[in-house]
Amino acid sequence: MPQVNIGVLISGSGTNLQSLIDNIESGSINGRITVVISNRKDAYGLERARQKNIAAVYLRQNNYESFEKFNDAIIDELKNYGVELVVLAGYLKILTSKFIKEYTNRIMNIHPSLIPAFCGKGYYGIKVHEEVINYGAKLSGATVHFVDEEADTGPIIIQEAVEVCYEDTADTLQQKVLKIEHKILPLAVKHYCDGKIQISGRKVKIKE
Ligand code: GRF
Repeated sequence: MPQVNIGVLISGSGTNLQSLIDNIESGSINGRITVVISNRKDAYGLERARQKNIAAVYLRQNNYESFEKFNDAIIDELKNYGVELVVLAGYLKILTSKFIKEYTNRIMNIHPSLIPAFCGKGYYGIKVHEEVINYGAKLSGATVHFVDEEADTGPIIIQEAVEVCYEDTADTLQQKVLKIEHKILPLAVKHYCDGKIQISGRKVKIKE
């Protein structure tokens, strides 16, 4: 099977990007990251990409006359780099419907809770974990899903739970969940690159 060209979109430190880089280097993922794109200039993930000689592109939304044009510019970059699978690894912006149509069932996102709990508009970063703690939930976790037109609503690929202890704070929970993220995001990408993901409506099957 030929290697899959992967494009990663980030806004921050890029620890999930790093987990993909590590799993590609170890030979576990039959793919290669051809470009990393950030909407923030200071995102450390860009530096992680440069250190591995991966193209690192910063696109500033304010340089475009509209949000649509900004998204078009991202699509253009992805096409320039022959991207077949787009991974949102801590990318904090929504995508236009044109973008989603262009890459239907080829955009994955990692979310730091068990969807459909603690997700949707406004649920990102430490806020997610604060809400879990304040609610008193006993379980949280992470979810990798395909991206559709709404926030965090696309077909779920992999989820894994983690126990929320009485002593947990939003920070300690975030650390626990990040560990899971670094495991299930590369796994979902691996399955995709191995051609093992089958989608039927909302249901995703990982083929043997
Ligand atoms: C992760 O918690 C991810 O689930 C969320 O944004 C965070 C990104 O972290 N979408 P990092 O930049 O990969 O370290």
